[in-house]
Amino acid sequence: MSSGRKLLIRGGRRIEGEIAVQGAKNSALPILAACTLCKGRCEIYNCPRLSDCDAACRILTSLGCACKREGNAVSVNSSAITSGEVSEKLMREMRSSIIFMGALLGRCGRCRMSFPGGCEIGSRPIDFHLEAFRRMGAKIHEEHGYIVCTAARLHGAKVSFPVPSVGATENVMLAAVLAEGVTEIHNAAREPEIRDLAGFLAACGARIDGAGTGTVRIEGVKSLGGCAYTVMPDRIAAATYLCCGAITRGEILLTHCDHGSLEPVASVLEQTGCSIYSFGNDSVYLNARKTLKAPDLIRTAPYPGFPTDAQPPIMALCTTLPGTTMFAETIFENRYRHVSELIRLGAKIKVEGQVAVVEGVNRLSGAELEAGDLRGGAAMVTAALFAEGTTKIGHTCYIDRGYEDIESCLKSVGADIRTV
Ligand code: EPZ
Repeated sequence: MSSGRKLLIRGGRRIEGEIAVQGAKNSALPILAACTLCKGRCEIYNCPRLSDCDAACRILTSLGCACKREGNAVSVNSSAITSGEVSEKLMREMRSSIIFMGALLGRCGRCRMSFPGGCEIGSRPIDFHLEAFRRMGAKIHEEHGYIVCTAARLHGAKVSFPVPSVGATENVMLAAVLAEGVTEIHNAAREPEIRDLAGFLAACGARIDGAGTGTVRIEGVKSLGGCAYTVMPDRIAAATYLCCGAITRGEILLTHCDHGSLEPVASVLEQTGCSIYSFGNDSVYLNARKTLKAPDLIRTAPYPGFPTDAQPPIMALCTTLPGTTMFAETIFENRYRHVSELIRLGAKIKVEGQVAVVEGVNRLSGAELEAGDLRGGAAMVTAALFAEGTTKIGHTCYIDRGYEDIESCLKSVGADIRTV
């Protein structure tokens, strides 16, 4: 992660053009972790070039896997995996490395990693993950800030989550594919990335039904081979670029994207008055050359609800739409960090707990901002494209975690953006 690099954006230019959407970070990460379950070699295509994916590859290497990236393809050979331990240093680089726990338990029968802790947007508890592993026969204890899980061989179990959890659903799937017997996950997360992970695992020989629905059933098998697999498009990066097109009242064509998974965001953008068309099986076109208006309410929810990750960029758009939008952020307790920065641009936003009320203004003016988290940083880029004058955004390392080449992507569709 490059520290000190800043993005300089001069706003007021329409976004017009075409962007090929990157592979999905939140699918690539669990798939990279899943490679540790496989005795053969895995070729992962459309793996986005992101610092989070680099961190996952460093973890694979530290576990004794052979891991090599060539452009957007990553090859992983876990036949000689030597360890089930993720160091504190590597965990601190990326807290979502918790996603390695299920796979390492399944493959090695042991996993030791430091407590992932919270992050900028919330405390990010992992109680659902640990409770599920216990039900599958794992012994878990915590010592000196580390979690140590051991299981001679995991056995199938019936697991039910109080609320759908993407990471916990994925972790249980990864622990269950080599477990003895059948595991059922109830109130499972339905995010498209869950289906993508199941597609990868099935390509390696796993037996999984119901991925993408509220009930996932995994029948354990003896071992998994390797496979070649292409990661799905990133629906949150796609949503962000649609917001960039909309806030500049321009038009943007996204290719290599999956319009089905974009539906919850597309329907909100249509409420603002944007025209959105999807055609072929991987293109989405947005036209915002018209009078737009604020949507009344945006409430984040587990898929197929409105995705929490798209809340910051769509809030940036709403700060410029005539009318008032109420946001209800129901997933994470601290996901309005971008609000204070948007206010520095002249936005009118009031936050009360999980609710934020945005009153649209017809102008924003450039300012110096600091990104505080990944999607909050994306919101600042989105708003800067509209703001008069120049906006400087610091701590862009947060943005690099989830957006591949955001500067060249936006420059290619007419944005005045550069790195200083
Ligand atoms: C995944 O995080 C994504 N990260 C997040 O994207 C995304 O915002 C989130 O899902 C929700 O869609 C990755 O996939 C790497 P959860 P995850 O478990 O799995 C509570 C981004 O910007 N919970 O679905 O950690 C939790 O507190 C990132 O790309 C427990 O209480 O999210 C939250 O309120 C940010 N106990 C809710 O469940 C647990 O054991 C949903 O969280 C686990 C979760």
